[in-house]
Amino acid sequence: MTNKGHDLSKSIEKQNITSPEEIDIDVLRKTQFNWKRKSLLTTQDLLIEEIDLIVNTARAFSEILTRQIKKVPTMRGKVIINLFYENSTRTRSSFELAGRYLSADVTNFAVSTSSIKKGETLQDTAQTLIQMGADAVVIRHPHSGVPFQLAKFLPNNISLINAGDGSNEHPTQALLDLYTILEVFSIQDLIVSNFLANKKIAIVGDILHSRVARSNIWLLKKLGMDIHLCGPPTLLPTVMKEFGVKTHWGLKDALSDADLIMVLRLQTERQTSGLIPSLDEYHRLYGLSHERIKLAKPNVLVLHPGPMNRGVEITSELADDPKYSLINKQVANGVAIRMALLYLLVFASEKK
Ligand code: CP
Repeated sequence: MTNKGHDLSKSIEKQNITSPEEIDIDVLRKTQFNWKRKSLLTTQDLLIEEIDLIVNTARAFSEILTRQIKKVPTMRGKVIINLFYENSTRTRSSFELAGRYLSADVTNFAVSTSSIKKGETLQDTAQTLIQMGADAVVIRHPHSGVPFQLAKFLPNNISLINAGDGSNEHPTQALLDLYTILEVFSIQDLIVSNFLANKKIAIVGDILHSRVARSNIWLLKKLGMDIHLCGPPTLLPTVMKEFGVKTHWGLKDALSDADLIMVLRLQTERQTSGLIPSLDEYHRLYGLSHERIKLAKPNVLVLHPGPMNRGVEITSELADDPKYSLINKQVANGVAIRMALLYLLVFASEKK
């Protein structure tokens, strides 16, 4: 599977595509890679070979994003439906752009104005998606587990992608985070490289409510990373040790010798009340700044999934400092990762 993944990347790269008509899905289909997955709901069950193939495919598709005309006919005739029950800037627009760059027909169900507001059930919504001929459905929902529920109502030939469910998972975010990390360290092959094994990442902030943290924990653990969680006791329950990670209520040990720091947004909308005394105190104890990152390795790199609370979990100066901050790269890489996922998942069953 590994070599086949690279064959796919090479086959796309070798085409030196300059206009929309110069990419041929049949050429891609001829590559004999053994991708079977139709849906992505979690990072927990991803195989290393699948992760490697997603990253390699994203790397190949990222070339399209550098062109003047960012469009290839790869998914012409395919229908992608974005079903966002919760606000999103980055995820929804990157799925939309990814689909459009691949020439799919993309439609957004505006939940605030749709029949879902009138009490339509998830099962009826699934029927609507089926009748509309969806090839892929991208769902975000404020409640954990809803994508898994929707999956029960959809036939296997419709790809379902979890774009974030409550505090549970955000697998495409974790994959774009990994893609960004591999890019900055110039890691080409996850299978042969053990570069990430024992690299230390500190994930700092509102761990309790973070689907990004959970998806990254499952993903990065598979690659052997040394994962340290840090946050106030109210946002970092000790039970999280059971995830096979180290936990800290203070920044010093968490950041010490860290190669990477992932800062998480303080999710005030998911907090009941009284979990932190004040935003000022949170910033004083856990806010990332140029001064604070001196606790980590000198060349430490900082990720944040966005949206940011500037001046709360991270200073603007650090967030905007290209020497340390990978935040803009994360956003840009989100499109390539989602192009790769749409392509791999939708065409999975059509491969020989
Ligand atoms: N990182 C992320 O999921 O951002 P959005 O909520 O803007 O999609």
